[in-house]
Amino acid sequence: MQAYLTRGIKNIIAEFPRIGKILEEYGIGCGPCTVGICQLKDILEIHKVSKEAEVELMLRIEAEIYPDRKISVQSNTVPLQNTSSEKVYFSRALQILVDEHKLIKRWLALIPDLTKNLDLALEKDRQVIGNGIDFIRSYADQLHHGKEEDILFTFFDDTADIFQVIYEDHRKARELVQKMLRAFDDKNTQELTSNVLEYAALLEEHIHKEDAVLFPWLDSGLAQEEKEELVSRFERSDRNLSIDIRRYQTFIEEIEQQFT
Ligand SMILES: [Fe+2]
Ligand SMILES: [Fe+2]
Repeated sequence: MQAYLTRGIKNIIAEFPRIGKILEEYGIGCGPCTVGICQLKDILEIHKVSKEAEVELMLRIEAEIYPDRKISVQSNTVPLQNTSSEKVYFSRALQILVDEHKLIKRWLALIPDLTKNLDLALEKDRQVIGNGIDFIRSYADQLHHGKEEDILFTFFDDTADIFQVIYEDHRKARELVQKMLRAFDDKNTQELTSNVLEYAALLEEHIHKEDAVLFPWLDSGLAQEEKEELVSRFERSDRNLSIDIRRYQTFIEEIEQQFT
């Protein structure tokens, strides 16, 4: 059983589909979840399963993996329910990051329309894309990913796999921004379109991983004083960067108006 604890849950469900159904009975929606970065050992911690249910659930999973062991389990600690769609309430600290995601997602949602008839030889298109890349670098990366990497993650042991997935997404996003800048300078519309669309898909999925899995888990591991300290460090970080957030909000609102 030990060997399965460090295997990805998606992988385990692919091999033993009934385990997905069993998890759903405990309100853990790993089957339909598109994040897919958790290992079996993380599931119980991330989804806050009671001690009693945890023992029962692990025995049921073990019985599925090793049917020859004849493990007898009586399922009676939890009602059949799926709580995975319940609204998550964040602390003020984590809500700051979730709210920043909302503005980033508004920009990502505009990308398919913006890139449809893009022509980097046209000054008006260069202006919009130039501002968009600036938003990605200043707001999404410097201000937002900066808060995650330099402040929030320092409160945890970030060697866990889930953090490595997040760091890798940030790295790929930065690499794509460098490619966008080169394509922008070369007026290579096709290359830039492909980079921007790839960035949008990456960030959409990345934000979902954070909102649905990582942040609720991190939030539950923070003490009240730590949450308060995070808020003041986030605010200090914004002041030090002196990025004009209002300017980016206006920029996105204006583009949204063009497409509605
Ligand atoms: Fe992130
Ligand atoms: Fe984020």
